[in-house]
Amino acid sequence: MERGRAVPPPWRGPWILCLLPALAGGQPLVASEAAYEEWQVTGVRGRAVEMSCGLVAAAPPAVVFWSFTPRGEGPPRALAVGSGRDVVVAPGTGTLGRVTLRNGTLELRELRVAAQGRFLCQGLFPERGRLRVGYAAVLLRVLVPVSKPFVRPTAAAAAEGAAVALTCTVREGTEPLSFSWQHQEPRGGPSVSPVGLRGSGAELSLTPANRSHTGWYLCTASNEVNSHTSEPVYLDIVYGPDEPAISVEPFSPEQGGFSAGEREDVVLSCLAPSNPPSRYVWLHNGTQVHVGQTYVIAAIARAQAGTYTCLAENTHLQTRTQATIVLTVYYPPAGSPSCSALATGDLQDVALRCRWLGGFPLAQLRWVGSLEEEKEEEEEGVMGTSFSMATRIQPGVATRNGSSFSCLASHPALPQGAACGTTLWVPPGSPTCAAAATKGDEYVMLQCRWEGGTPPVTLQWRDGGGRALGDPTPSTAVLVLSTEGSLGGREFVCAAAHPLRAPGPDCRLRLEVPDLEAASEVAVLEGGEALLTCRQRGTSARLSATVAWYDPKEREVTQGLAKYRLEQGEAWLNLTVLDAEWPGDSGIYRCTATNSVGTASLPVRLRVDRYPAPPNVTISKLRYTRARTEVQLEWRTQGTGNLTGFMVQRRQTKKPLREAPSPWETAAGNIEPHSRDRRLGGLDPAVLYAFRVLAVNHRTAGHPSEVQTPAEPPFEAYPAVTGAAVAGMLVATAASLLAVRCIARHRETLPRLHDLLFRTAGPGAQEPVDTPEDAEAAASGEEEAAPAPGEAPAPSTAAEPLSAPPGTTDDPPADVTITATATP
Ligand SMILES: *[C@@H]1O[C@H](CO)[C@@H](O)[C@H](O)[C@H]1NC(C)=O
Ligand SMILES: *[C@@H]1O[C@H](CO)[C@@H](O)[C@H](O)[C@H]1NC(C)=O
Ligand SMILES: *[C@@H]1O[C@H](CO)[C@@H](O)[C@H](O)[C@H]1NC(C)=O
Ligand SMILES: *[C@@H]1O[C@H](CO)[C@@H](O)[C@H](O)[C@H]1NC(C)=O
Ligand SMILES: *[C@@H]1O[C@H](CO)[C@@H](O)[C@H](O)[C@H]1NC(C)=O
Ligand SMILES: *[C@@H]1O[C@H](CO)[C@@H](O)[C@H](O)[C@H]1NC(C)=O
Ligand SMILES: *[C@@H]1O[C@H](CO)[C@@H](O)[C@H](O)[C@H]1NC(C)=O
Repeated sequence: MERGRAVPPPWRGPWILCLLPALAGGQPLVASEAAYEEWQVTGVRGRAVEMSCGLVAAAPPAVVFWSFTPRGEGPPRALAVGSGRDVVVAPGTGTLGRVTLRNGTLELRELRVAAQGRFLCQGLFPERGRLRVGYAAVLLRVLVPVSKPFVRPTAAAAAEGAAVALTCTVREGTEPLSFSWQHQEPRGGPSVSPVGLRGSGAELSLTPANRSHTGWYLCTASNEVNSHTSEPVYLDIVYGPDEPAISVEPFSPEQGGFSAGEREDVVLSCLAPSNPPSRYVWLHNGTQVHVGQTYVIAAIARAQAGTYTCLAENTHLQTRTQATIVLTVYYPPAGSPSCSALATGDLQDVALRCRWLGGFPLAQLRWVGSLEEEKEEEEEGVMGTSFSMATRIQPGVATRNGSSFSCLASHPALPQGAACGTTLWVPPGSPTCAAAATKGDEYVMLQCRWEGGTPPVTLQWRDGGGRALGDPTPSTAVLVLSTEGSLGGREFVCAAAHPLRAPGPDCRLRLEVPDLEAASEVAVLEGGEALLTCRQRGTSARLSATVAWYDPKEREVTQGLAKYRLEQGEAWLNLTVLDAEWPGDSGIYRCTATNSVGTASLPVRLRVDRYPAPPNVTISKLRYTRARTEVQLEWRTQGTGNLTGFMVQRRQTKKPLREAPSPWETAAGNIEPHSRDRRLGGLDPAVLYAFRVLAVNHRTAGHPSEVQTPAEPPFEAYPAVTGAAVAGMLVATAASLLAVRCIARHRETLPRLHDLLFRTAGPGAQEPVDTPEDAEAAASGEEEAAPAPGEAPAPSTAAEPLSAPPGTTDDPPADVTITATATP
C-alpha cells in the first residue's frame, strides 16, 4: 500500500456538513490543521480489501465520510458515512463488492473489478479535545487472477515438416501475463520444457514440426496474482515410413546380401519408423509372401533364395517405402566328395582327382598329403584350392608305397567340412600270364592279371620284339590272337607299369603245342590192370588242350567201355586197360593232346606178359569106383614151376572109328594147388571117358598130362551080372564107334551124314563164341590137339576145349587112344 501526500482535493459535497450537528461533544473544530494523505491499495477480485482513513494507529475518526470515483474520473459518489457506531452505506455499492464501514475503515469483501478507482475519505478526528479534519485518498487497483489457460494447436495432427503452432489462451487475468510450456513424451515420461523452440510466449511454434514434437503439451499462464496450468493437449505428428531397415537372423552378412544354410530357420525383420506404425508386407522375388513385421522362414529351402523386399506403408499418409535384400541359401553338394587316383599317361606320376559337384556355392576342394609331407605343402596348400574338382599330380618316384592323401572339402553349409582320401600302393608280386583258347580253337586269348594297387597297375601285351600289342589297361590285359597265323613258339610279354614301382615287372608266355610226358612202355601180367599215364608238362601258360587215348587199332578210347577206364585230372589223362589179355591187348597206344597251336602225340607200348609155365603133370592113378558113374583120379607134378591150381578135363572116347574126337570138357577146375587127387562123379556109365590133368599158373595152363581112361575097380568088388551087362553094351558101343569112324573118313562122299552126326559134336559145335579169343581158338581148333605149354584155358568156357595157341597147325584128326575094355 502506497501512501503519498497529495494536494487536498476541493471540497465538493455540502452534504457532509449536515452531519456536523450529529458530532458529539461539541468540541471545537480545527479546520486549519486538516491533514491529507493519499496511498494506493491493491486488491484482488473476489477477495477482500480494507482501506482506513488516516493512520490506523490513530484513534478512529468521530465522523468519516467515504466517497468513490470510478477509475478516478468523474464526480465522486458518496459511499458511506459513519459516526461511531452509526454507519450509513449508500445504496448501489453492491457493484463494488460487499461494503462495510467500521471505525472509519472501509472494507470491501468479494471485491469486484468495478471497485477500481479512487476512494476518498474525509474524517473528523478527535485530538486533544478538539476535532481535527483529515482527508485521505486511496487508489484501489483491482487485480484479476488468470483463469485456466487453454492450449490450442493449429491442428491436432500434422505431418512432419508442416508448420505447427500451439497457442495458449486465458479468458481473463490481469496483465502482464507470462506463459510457459511443457512437453511430455507420448507414452509418459518427464515433462520437459521444450528447448530451442521459438516463442515462449502464448504461442509455441513448431516449424517445421518433426516426430520429436509428438506428445502432450501443457501451458502455464501467470500474472502477479497467480499462475494456472492448462490441461494437456496431445499433438500427433504423423510421419514415415522411413527407409526400412531389414535385419536377418542368424546374422550372416556377405557381399551384396545375406546368406543362410539350407534347412536353417531364418528370421527376417523389417523396421521402418512411422506414425502411425507401418504396415509391413514381405515380397519374395516380387511375390507377396507375408504380411507383418517379422517373417519367419522355418527350415529354409534352396528355392527360397532370392530377393526379399520389405514394403512399409503409412496408411494414414498413404506413403510407402521399401528395402530389398538378397538372401542366398547355401546347400552342400549331394553325397560326399569322391577321391580317385589315376596313373598319368606316361605312367610316371599319379593324378589324384577329387570331385564333388553341385551345391551352392561350389565346394572348395584341396588335396593334402600325408603327415610327413605336409610341411613342404604349407605354402602350396591354399594355392591348391579349387572348386568342385581338384587335381594334384603326385610324382611317382617321390612317393613311398602306402602314402595317403586326403582331399578336404569346405563349404559354408558344412561347418565341419568333408573329406575323402586315397592311399597309393603297389600290389606285391608280379603279373601272371595265362592263355586260353576259344571254343573251336579259332582264337587264343592271352590274359595278364595283376590286381590291386592304387592306382591299379597298367598292363600291356608286347610281342617278343617289344612291339606293343593292344592298349594298356588296368589290372588285366587281354590279347586275342587268331590261330590262323603260326603261333607255335612265339613269345608274348605282359609288361606291368605303376608310377610307384619303376621299372615294373613282367610275365612271359610262349605258345606251344602241348608237351606230353608218358612212360614209353608199360608191362603187365595177363589178367592185371595196365595203367597208361599221360601228363601235360608245363603248367603255366598252358593252353587248354584236348587229351585223348587211342588203342592199338587207332580207335579213340571213350568213356564207358568195359575194357577201359579213363581218369582225367587237371593235367593228365590216365588210361587203365582192364583184365589185360595176352596177346590181344598188347600193342601201341597213343596219347594225343590238341590245343589251338597244334597237336602232340606220344606212343606208349603195352606189353602183356604171361605168367611162367606151371610144371608138367602125370596121372598116377585113374580108376572107377564101384559105381561106374565115378572115378578116382590121382596125379603128381613133374619139375619145378609155380602153379595156382589144377584142372581135370574129360571127353568121350570115340574109338575105334577115327572120327573127330569130342572136345575136352573141364570136369573139375579151380583145384587147390596142394591137391593131388580128386573123385569125379556125374559120369554116364554107358560112356567111356578119357581124362587128362593140367597145372595152371593164374591163366597160364601147363602141358596137359597124358590122356588116360579109367581102369576097372578091383575084381572082387565087381559083380558078374554087372559085367555081363557091360559086355553087351560094349558090343553095341563098339559097333557104333566103328560106324562113326567110317563116316568121318569119308565125309566128302557122305556129307549129309557127316553133318548130321557132327553138327553138334564137331568143331562147329564150339560156337557160339564169347570173346574174340574164343573165336580165334575155335577157328584154329578143327579138332582137339594137345595144347602147347602155357596155353590159357578160359575159365568162363570150362565146358569147351582148351584153345590152341596161335601158330598151332590145323592137324587132321589126331590119333585118339582107344582103350578096349573087357571084362576081366
Ligand atoms: C472502534 O474503536 C473503539 C475505540 O478505539 C474500539 O473500542 C472499538 O473496538 C472499535 N471498533 C471496532 C469494530 O474496531
Ligand atoms: C526436431 O526439431 C528440433 C527443433 O525444432 C530439433 O532439435 C530436433 O533435432 C528435431 N528432431 C528431428 C528428429 O529432426
Ligand atoms: C527367386 O530368385 C532366385 C534368384 O533369382 C532363384 O534362385 C529362386 O529360385 C527364385 N525363387 C522363386 C520361388 O522364384
Ligand atoms: C605296398 O603296401 C601295401 C600295404 O599298404 C602292401 O600290401 C604291399 O605289399 C606293398 N607293396 C610292395 C611292393 O611292397
Ligand atoms: C595218372 O597219372 C599221373 C601221372 O602221370 C598221376 O600223377 C596220377 O595220380 C594218375 N592218376 C590216377 C587216378 O592214377
Ligand atoms: C613137359 O612136357 C613137355 C611135352 O610133353 C616136354 O616137352 C617138357 O620137356 C616137359 N618138361 C619137363 C620139365 O619135364
Ligand atoms: C614162384 O612165385 C614166387 C612168388 O610168387 C616167385 O618168387 C618165384 O620166383 C616163382 N618161381 C618161378 C619158378 O617162377
